[in-house]
Amino acid sequence: MTEATMMTEASPIPTAKPHLPDAQIVTEVRHWTDRLFSFRVTRPQSLRFRSGEFVMIGLIGDNGKPLLRAYSIASPAWDDALEFYSIKVPDGPLTSKLQHILPGDEIILRPKPVGTLVHDALLPGKRLWFLATGTGIAPFASLMREPETYEKYDQVIMMHTCREVAELEYGRELVESLKDDPLIGEMVGDKLVYYPTTTREPFHHMGRVTDNLASGKVFADLGLPPMNPGDDRAMVCGSLAFNVDVKAILEGFGLCEGANSDPRQFVVEKAFVGDGI
Ligand SMILES: Cc1cc2nc3c(=O)[nH]c(=O)nc-3n(C[C@H](O)[C@H](O)[C@H](O)COP(=O)(O)OP(=O)(O)OC[C@H]3O[C@@H](n4cnc5c(N)ncnc54)[C@H](O)[C@@H]3O)c2cc1C
Ligand SMILES: NC(=O)c1ccc[n+]([C@@H]2O[C@H](COP(=O)([O-])OP(=O)(O)OC[C@H]3O[C@@H](n4cnc5c(N)ncnc54)[C@H](OP(=O)(O)O)[C@@H]3O)[C@@H](O)[C@H]2O)c1
Repeated sequence: MTEATMMTEASPIPTAKPHLPDAQIVTEVRHWTDRLFSFRVTRPQSLRFRSGEFVMIGLIGDNGKPLLRAYSIASPAWDDALEFYSIKVPDGPLTSKLQHILPGDEIILRPKPVGTLVHDALLPGKRLWFLATGTGIAPFASLMREPETYEKYDQVIMMHTCREVAELEYGRELVESLKDDPLIGEMVGDKLVYYPTTTREPFHHMGRVTDNLASGKVFADLGLPPMNPGDDRAMVCGSLAFNVDVKAILEGFGLCEGANSDPRQFVVEKAFVGDGI
């Protein structure tokens, strides 16, 4: 990230920046709020992943060793670059630094994608529900741009809940852009239904994902029947408490949790580890 400044007498004159292990170059950075930003980096030619998976990314820490964290890849598998959507934790070991990256900087990216929020982990169905809070929308930013999503389902519903309206903007802009996307706009058509809500600032739709599912409000608002195990599939990504509460509601509708090795009606992944900042 910084120009080489230390040289021993025997060192040749450096001609390029030092390279981090598994280095990728930052190409774009956007700050959405004082605690959320997104960025794009170059993609290693050898990296193959399934839309919805996550990788380990990071920077060199103060001790000189790689400081890595799990990050969902927010871009789809077909994209030439990789996109990430990140929190800024004020004293977070990684994000207190990562939030200052600029185009041209290097980050570390370990090219070993994994994760449960993938199409292979679900049985075929009619409707696919993406249920997210906060940065939990990141894997769905990938899957909403994935053609397989629209090949496999008649309808895709993106429920995203944040405390405040500004925290929804990354998702809102992405969904809005898909209609005119030259690559997948036609596939998306009117299959993608966006249902954003806030919980702590007035907005046209409010309430927790859990409350809107349990009360039936979202089904009434969208003119859909309540979830059933024959037709509905779901992918869940939020805090541990969110994931636990949503899982209970989905099971109440008769859906069962699946995995890569055992596809069923819904899958869950943590958006972060810990109870909150
Ligand atoms: C499978 C998986 C995928 C992840 N994908 C993403 C992603 O796409 N984008 C992203 O920003 N983070 C993601 N995370 C969280 C990420 O790994 C780091 O925790 C985050 O980057 C903060 O790192 P840090 O070193 O600054 O602080 P940490 O020491 O890692 O975290 C400090 C505290 O901040 C809170 N926190 C951490 N991450 C978040 C978050 N995303 N939202 C709200 N509170 C948080 C938690 O309370 C945590 O204990 C993911 C985590 C997992 C397990
Ligand atoms: N978002 C902010 O403006 C902000 C600012 C500074 C610091 N922080 C801190 O950052 C941490 C993470 O905040 P965050 O807003 O990203 O994530 P969060 O606390 O998980 O909240 C994100 C959204 O999920 C909802 N939610 C939380 N738990 C839920 C559950 N069990 N079931 C259903 N919905 C649930 C919240 O609703 P409720 O509002 O009803 O809880 C909120 O709309 C928190 O510790 C917070 O104190 C947040």
